[in-house]
Amino acid sequence: MSLQKSALSVRENAYAPYSNFKVGAAIRSEGGAIYSGCNVENVAYPEGTCAEAGAIAAMVAAGETRLSEVYVIADSPHPVSPCGGCRQKLAEFGTGDVVVTMANLDGVEQKMTLADLMPGAFGEHHMENT
Ligand code: THU
Repeated sequence: MSLQKSALSVRENAYAPYSNFKVGAAIRSEGGAIYSGCNVENVAYPEGTCAEAGAIAAMVAAGETRLSEVYVIADSPHPVSPCGGCRQKLAEFGTGDVVVTMANLDGVEQKMTLADLMPGAFGEHHMENT
């Protein structure tokens, strides 16, 4: 299955009764497998989790920690953009040249690298004096 189909399909399972904004994310790991996730909201709103976080958790649970490609899709007027927290989460597991495809249900896609999405990202190198 393609990353696009996987993200589109998992989006159907999103639990988003508060925002009504369903998001699907799919990640290809360096090993070539595809992991997917959807947003899971909670009545205590800050406890909700994003689709990207779900896909990352699935990858790590399967024993992989490096990603090579990301696809995110939602029913949005413009291709859906990962939130700041998810950019940081993705940067933990992928290099700056990883391509993130943002998409909407109208078939509009926008591609950006992780480095473009997260300029100046906080990283391990910032902690070298500790
Ligand atoms: N959301 C995601 O799952 N991923 C994104 O990239 C953007 C936002 C979710 C969080 C929340 O459940 C809903 O979309 C509205 O913010």
